[in-house]
Amino acid sequence: MDVVIEVLTKNHCREIFDCGDSNLNKYLHRYAMQDINRRINKVFVAVDSAGSKTICAYYGLCAGTVDVVDLPILIRQKLPKYPLPVVLLSRLAVDQKHQGKGLGAVMLADALCRVTRASEVIAVYAVIVDATDSQAAGVYKQFGFLPLPSNPLKLFIPLDTIRKLVE
Ligand SMILES: CC(C)(COP(=O)(O)OP(=O)(O)OC[C@H]1O[C@@H](n2cnc3c(N)ncnc32)[C@H](O)[C@@H]1OP(=O)(O)O)[C@@H](O)C(=O)NCCC(=O)NCCS
Repeated sequence: MDVVIEVLTKNHCREIFDCGDSNLNKYLHRYAMQDINRRINKVFVAVDSAGSKTICAYYGLCAGTVDVVDLPILIRQKLPKYPLPVVLLSRLAVDQKHQGKGLGAVMLADALCRVTRASEVIAVYAVIVDATDSQAAGVYKQFGFLPLPSNPLKLFIPLDTIRKLVE
C-alpha cells in the first residue's frame, strides 16, 4: 500500500485507529488534535495515498531540551554545560492491520527527514524518543538511536548522525 504522510486534521478518522497500546490509541483518539491546536505537539499521520482518511500510523514531534549530564560521557565532554535543544519524537504507532510491513520504519525515516529540514532554520542537537518498553527501544536502536546512560528507555540520535543517514 502506498501512503502519504501529512499533518493530522479534524477530517482524519481518528476513532478506529488501534495499534494494540491503549495509551497510544487514546492519545490519537482524544488528545492529538487538542495538542496541535495548542501548539504543544505536531502530529503526522500516514493515510492511503488513494485519498482515504483512515489513519494507518502516526507520530508526534515537539521541541525540548536534554541535560548534558544525561548524555554519554564521551559525547558530553565536547559540549557546553547548559541544556541542549532537541526534538522529541513523542509517539510512534502503527495500526495493527499494518504492523510488520515496514510502515514503522517509513514513519521514523519521515520524522528524521522533517527534523533535518527544520534544523536548517533552528538549531537541533539531537532527536530524543521515549520507548514504551525494551522491545520498542530495540526498534529505535536499529535506526542508530543510542540509550541515555541514565534511562535506557530514553534514546537519542545526534543530528550529525541523522544528516549522514539522510545524505
Ligand atoms: C513498534 C511499531 C511502531 C513498529 O512498526 P512496524 O510497522 O510494525 O515496524 P516495521 O515493520 O517498520 O519494522 C521496523 C523494524 O523494527 C523491527 N521491529 C518491529 N517491531 C518490533 C518489536 N516489537 N520488537 C523488536 N523489533 C521490532 C522489525 O523487525 C524491523 O526491523 P527489520 O527491518 O530489520 O526487519 C509498531 O509495531 C507499533 O505501533 N507497536 C505498538 C505501539 C508501540 O509499541 N509503539 C512504540 C512506542 S515507543
